[in-house]
Amino acid sequence: ASQEAQNILEAHQWLTKLYHHLLKHTKEGREALQYLEQRGLSEETIDAFQIGYAPDAKHFVVSFLEKKGFHPQTMVKAGLLSVTDENKYIDRFRGRVIFPIRNHQGKTVAFSARTLSDQKPKYINSPETEIFHKGRMLFNFDLARPHIRKMSEAVLVEGAFDAIASYQAGVQNVIATLGTALTDFQASLLRRYVDTVIICYDADSAGLEATIKAASLLKKVGCYVKIARMEQGMDPDDYIQTYGSESFQKHVIQGNITYMSFYLKYLRKQFNLQTEADRIRYIEKALDQISTVDKPVEREHYVKDLADEFELSRETLHQEIRYRRRKMG
Ligand code: CTP
Ligand code: MN
Ligand code: MN
Ligand code: MN
Ligand code: MN
Repeated sequence: ASQEAQNILEAHQWLTKLYHHLLKHTKEGREALQYLEQRGLSEETIDAFQIGYAPDAKHFVVSFLEKKGFHPQTMVKAGLLSVTDENKYIDRFRGRVIFPIRNHQGKTVAFSARTLSDQKPKYINSPETEIFHKGRMLFNFDLARPHIRKMSEAVLVEGAFDAIASYQAGVQNVIATLGTALTDFQASLLRRYVDTVIICYDADSAGLEATIKAASLLKKVGCYVKIARMEQGMDPDDYIQTYGSESFQKHVIQGNITYMSFYLKYLRKQFNLQTEADRIRYIEKALDQISTVDKPVEREHYVKDLADEFELSRETLHQEIRYRRRKMG
């Protein structure tokens, strides 16, 4: 790596320690520490994830990095400092909880900073830098990797808080995309370690759309996709806070459904099955999707449901599926 990349990496390691220290051992950090405790994080978790606090000051990090001998212009590139309209350097993260984003070797390469109030934006994140390519890494992959490998299964969530809360709840094979769409790169990376991915995105309309997109990417690279569900409006962290770790493991993670069942439920909502025309369109669309299932036993399972519900012969449905599969090649 270039000298500049080395410096940026080093600055991130210093700041991780400093922010973590401020959270745990100073008066300035007390409110943030209480906030994290109130959201259910244990001290062990706060330490494992090296969570920290950035003080509400303009020149705290500026002078710290200067004393350590870092070039301020490089630190702007690193996303650790900003430049004001008057061309002055100031701290980028101020008065926020700091979640270090670690690379797959466990080194901090970026930060995600959450407000303690309901200030906007809720999160301020590091920009893309020489050492941080958001679409090429998965949050928590370093801690999750041995668990993912052992189980040949990963749980994919949206947010850093979801990943941390899930990990603490005993779901240690958890990784997050940090609120952005899953990329081809991330899907292929996961495929090297797992057969199955359980998607556990937020139960809202954005999470639903993101689930469909992530699932199709994961299927394309050969993963078997399952979906974990929660009641409308919740995310994994909310669920764990409300119902506890055991319920999360048992009902949400282990209570997953196949992607196909999930998709068919989603598809149904777009049609008025009371009308004949919509019923036919729904059946056509459902067949398109069922045709992509590679396991014959699983295909038969959905065909049976569809045949029973709409009083069709299974043979007709299988014929339609054979036709579609030939076209797919
Ligand atoms: N996000 C972001 N900037 C925002 C809002 C969201 O970068 N202004 C990213 C964060 O990585 C966040 C993820 O998108 O974790 C999911 O967004 P959301 O569900 O709104 O946040 P939560 O993770 O639920 O955050 P919290 O529980 O702390 O409110
Ligand atoms: Mn510590
Ligand atoms: Mn969300
Ligand atoms: Mn959320
Ligand atoms: Mn949340």
